[in-house]
Amino acid sequence: MSVLFGPTLSRRNLLASAGAFAAGAVSPFYGGSAAETANTREFTLHAAPGQIRLLPEPHGETAAWRYNATVPGPEIRVRQGDRVRIVVKNHLPEETTVHWHGIRTPNAMDGVPFLTQPPIAPGGNFIYEFDAVDAGTFWYHPHFHSFAQVARGLHGSFIVDEAEPIRVDRDVTWMLEDWRMLESAEISDDFGNRHDMSHGGRIGNVVAINGLLPDAFEVQSGERIRLRLINVANARIFALDFTDLAPMVVALDGQPATPHVPENGLVFLGPAMRADLILDLKGAAGHRVAIVDRFYDGLEYTLTEFAFADTPLRDGTPDWTIELPSNPLAQPNLDRAIRHDIVLNGGMMGNMVMQEMGSAMMGAMDSLMEMSGEDRFWFMNGIAAMEHDLDPLLTLERDRTHVIAMTNETAWNHPMHLHGHAFRVISRNGQATRLREWQDTVLVAPRERVEIAFVADNPGDWMLHCHILEHQAAGMMSVIRVD
Ligand code: C2O
Ligand code: CU
Repeated sequence: MSVLFGPTLSRRNLLASAGAFAAGAVSPFYGGSAAETANTREFTLHAAPGQIRLLPEPHGETAAWRYNATVPGPEIRVRQGDRVRIVVKNHLPEETTVHWHGIRTPNAMDGVPFLTQPPIAPGGNFIYEFDAVDAGTFWYHPHFHSFAQVARGLHGSFIVDEAEPIRVDRDVTWMLEDWRMLESAEISDDFGNRHDMSHGGRIGNVVAINGLLPDAFEVQSGERIRLRLINVANARIFALDFTDLAPMVVALDGQPATPHVPENGLVFLGPAMRADLILDLKGAAGHRVAIVDRFYDGLEYTLTEFAFADTPLRDGTPDWTIELPSNPLAQPNLDRAIRHDIVLNGGMMGNMVMQEMGSAMMGAMDSLMEMSGEDRFWFMNGIAAMEHDLDPLLTLERDRTHVIAMTNETAWNHPMHLHGHAFRVISRNGQATRLREWQDTVLVAPRERVEIAFVADNPGDWMLHCHILEHQAAGMMSVIRVD
């Protein structure tokens, strides 16, 4: 496969003069969106193939899959406590569903094919309806063949505003996308190939923000921005360095966090993870600050730049609070918790390990993987699940606190996502975490052991899976039953 931008992912040369870009621009929903009662908000999502302009001229347009003719799909934005009703219409050549990532919906509205609903057939539709119980930064995406459907462009943001939001000058959402593009400007269609499935997943060669390749993002000195970052990539992990912009993290995965400076100055986002940052911007006219992604050693690249406008918005820093009001989450009671262990296994090893193992072992591993016929490369407690055959891995007593310890015995990172609940990350490698942050997706590093705690208060069969979508498709998923 030939790639456009080479292994360094540099794309600066492609960027003519994109200038400032409109982040989070809202596209109108078409097809009768208006019927709104007091606090029921209605939306229609049409999933359909179509063209997008991802790469600048002289490249051609790109055939993608879109919600309501845009990539990303339209922002869905409601207020905490609203009832939300979303009609999803499938105009794709294959089945689909929509999952509302991070939103605590009733089980039947969770959008998981074969588990909570039948897949939506081509030409069919499905009506999702639920209350927006938590405020925060969420997103939506298909849960059917998601490793291909998300990568073709099906993803959108879902913002639930607090009843009383904190005051900022601008509230901006950046969906961080990772496209694997060919020189022809087509999306590479090697979805779910065995190499991606058994290694780090589908990493692309074009990183975009909200479907664009922005050269710069214009800001004013003195301005306070709430920047909502959403990693919608299949597999790419970000470690964003905002350098002297000194962001404060105020929410993770949509859930309020004690405001804090990111550890080592880097904002880590595994696939599906979100972070809300507060940026109090200070800079002279014309000053530019690069936002650099440092996750992959030797492959650092500039995501975009903040460009300071000629005129400041104000002198000094606003003294408004940055602390978000908390969401109605049940607090885990650790003294009375029920404990569970999940071991993550499988995948190809790192190069070093492979060398130590010798070629005989490697051959054995290959044939082991060939044997099953299906690409089952990843295991949770020894089971490689497929989406059409799912038995519960764990059954959790309802309304009790549960602690799940996940041990990663693989050579790869796994962003583990639990549906229907938020959990607190309470320890890493036996060390208590400083913030006991609420998350719905936790990045578990190679060889790491992470404990999460939550009250199982949402009954039903819920997925717990790796959000590297190729890992999920190749076995790293399971069902957690709450009953
Ligand atoms: Cu974002 Cu099971 O998904
Ligand atoms: Cu994984």
